[in-house]
Amino acid sequence: MSSQKNDLPSFRRHRRLRASGTLRDLVRETEVNINDLILPMFAQEGLDGKEEIASMPGVYHFGLDALRREVDDLVELGIPGVILFGIPAEKDDQSSSAYAEQGIVQQAIRALRRDHPELLIMTDVCLCQYNPAGHCGIVRNGQIVNDDSLALIAETALSHAAAGADIVAPSDMMDGRVAAIRQRLDGHGFENVSILSYAVKYASAFYGPFREAAHSAPAFGDRRTYQMDPANAREALREASSDVEEGADMLMVKPALSYLDITRRIRERFDLPLATYNVSAEYSMVKAAALKGWIDERAIVEEVLTSFKRAGADIILTYHAMDFARWQKEQA
Ligand code: PBG
Ligand code: ZN
Repeated sequence: MSSQKNDLPSFRRHRRLRASGTLRDLVRETEVNINDLILPMFAQEGLDGKEEIASMPGVYHFGLDALRREVDDLVELGIPGVILFGIPAEKDDQSSSAYAEQGIVQQAIRALRRDHPELLIMTDVCLCQYNPAGHCGIVRNGQIVNDDSLALIAETALSHAAAGADIVAPSDMMDGRVAAIRQRLDGHGFENVSILSYAVKYASAFYGPFREAAHSAPAFGDRRTYQMDPANAREALREASSDVEEGADMLMVKPALSYLDITRRIRERFDLPLATYNVSAEYSMVKAAALKGWIDERAIVEEVLTSFKRAGADIILTYHAMDFARWQKEQA
């Protein structure tokens, strides 16, 4: 009589390759590297020291000196770069502190460039933190006007390049901004400054804690006339395609977690390096649950970051960068 085992129909033994840690390491398809991570940081004009952002535990507003000290630690941990956001002391209709030579972001770039010649300095290029309307373009008669915003956005990018930024990242979602920025940079000898376009940026509630952090919530209306409808995926391909044509060096999908399908589709359609932005509420939800003791923070963060790589992102902008790097070092 044949054994029961031999009576089983033939089937594949998937568990064979999961049998040991070394085997699992051998066949692993994706891995998050410290090299892939960029930390978003907030530089606040006139602040002495640092202040924790209530809605984002572990994330701070930094005065210039405190920012420099934090970046020393970040470099020590092996994180390759930062993306800088500014919180100016003054706002006006022309968003003039966005492109002022002595603006807070421009000062921060120069200080960090002096301290760390090798650090990748990326900047968020936008107007919303710098005008009282809190919109990403110029407001006229209650409308966010596209074409007249481009000159100010390009001027902001130019001022960041002049201060020493390596990569400028426009997040305003005006049409034509990549072309406007490229033209402005090239016209001033900054052919080697890269543009990372927030090509696919959705009108998302996941930016809530950031807007509190950056004091950039819109004073009226919302951002739905320029940021994308979360229900649309084909539109993301059109947005990315324009930015590629206009000369973007790298593309970004934002937010990250609810848009993994978009990251996958952009990866399959375009060859440029691809970033995803693990935004503020995605961070805060994890932190809040971890502080309550409801989840294993480290395991959750590692799984979340891995999902971005698996979806096809090369680069991850994340507030978890320092924690992740520390855990990796501990393990090594
Ligand atoms: C501003 C900007 C936002 C974020 C990055 N740049 C907010 C917004 O568009 O309202 C979101 C970042 C985050 O939530 O972590 N243009
Ligand atoms: Zn903006």
